[in-house]
Amino acid sequence: MPETAETILSSERLLQAQKLGQAVIAEVGRVFIGNPTIVEALLLGLLSRGHVLLEGVPGVAKTTLVKAFAQVLGCQFRRVQFTPDLLPSDITGTYILDPASKDFVLREGPIFAQIILGDEINRAPPKTQSALLEAMQEGQVTLEGQTRTLPQPFMVLATQNPIEHEGTYPLPEAQLDRFLIKLSVGYPEAQAEKNMLRAYAQAPSPPRELLSPPVILELQRLAAAVHVDDEIYDYVLELVRYTRQHRRVALGASPRAALALLHAARARALLSGRDFVLPDDVKALAAQILAHRLMLISEAEMEGIVSASVIHEALQAVAVRPSERRRSEAAAAPVTPRRVS
Ligand SMILES: Nc1ncnc2c1ncn2[C@@H]1O[C@H](COP(=O)(O)OP(=O)(O)OP(=O)(O)O)[C@@H](O)[C@H]1O
Ligand SMILES: [Mg+2]
Repeated sequence: MPETAETILSSERLLQAQKLGQAVIAEVGRVFIGNPTIVEALLLGLLSRGHVLLEGVPGVAKTTLVKAFAQVLGCQFRRVQFTPDLLPSDITGTYILDPASKDFVLREGPIFAQIILGDEINRAPPKTQSALLEAMQEGQVTLEGQTRTLPQPFMVLATQNPIEHEGTYPLPEAQLDRFLIKLSVGYPEAQAEKNMLRAYAQAPSPPRELLSPPVILELQRLAAAVHVDDEIYDYVLELVRYTRQHRRVALGASPRAALALLHAARARALLSGRDFVLPDDVKALAAQILAHRLMLISEAEMEGIVSASVIHEALQAVAVRPSERRRSEAAAAPVTPRRVS
């Protein structure tokens, strides 16, 4: 009998997914001390088959965080330090002459790993950035006319310093759209920073491997099976349409952005042990998923308006409305909630 969404998301699997998620967040939290919602966002990115960009000033533990997260996943991972002289082939790989066979063989670049840490991605020139970003979008790399598929799971965790910094090449908007989530890593709260100072008297032991490629693929499959009600579709649509009509926005959220928001909302539901998405999942993620994809008109930037405030405004303005179907169901019979853990 083929599995349906109902049977895929058994209560045991939901509970297991939730527990695994909590364990990952706690384990990374031993090394990256402070904000667990940032770690949760990395996990949401992974479960929704997306890529994550972290932005923050030097010394806020961006590298520490992505490294710890990658270690917990139990996948093959490679780190690429982006520098101004990095070439596209340093990422994708090159054909070299094999003296034994006298034939050209591919020396695979770091892109062929499962988890890629693209550190300080905005320090490399655009051509090199696009070698990475194209692979992210297509899940494959074409070298000398030959297309090779990238391994699964495949996730890019990139870091960048704020774009005003000297000697950087800001990622163009179209490229930013390749990232499911963009996170700002700020300074920790005073108490968290004190905890970090205490905990780092001795460097903590490296994080344990808690996941593995098959487990991650299974979690991704479960996340994709999470139920989305009609009213949630309408809610997401209204939010993205709000950004498109906003007078301060030159380029609003795309259908790809709407899809990204839904994928991440499903993953958030799964991590909470639920087999259905709530409006709160959408609300909690809207800024992280949509803000970096908006382009504001230049006057707005001069007035100090930022994309995140447009998303905030959209969340205030757009209400969750019960769908037509839900209204007629409610009229016919009392609403029985789906399974709640
Ligand atoms: N919240 C934190 N938790 C744990 N360690 C932290 C935290 N904040 C800073 N550190 C420590 O500060 C140091 C710098 O961290 P890291 O190199 O990861 O920063 P970064 O954001 O990548 O900086 P850069 O932009 O210069 O590369 C590390 O030793 C790290 O352990
Ligand atoms: Mg760093």
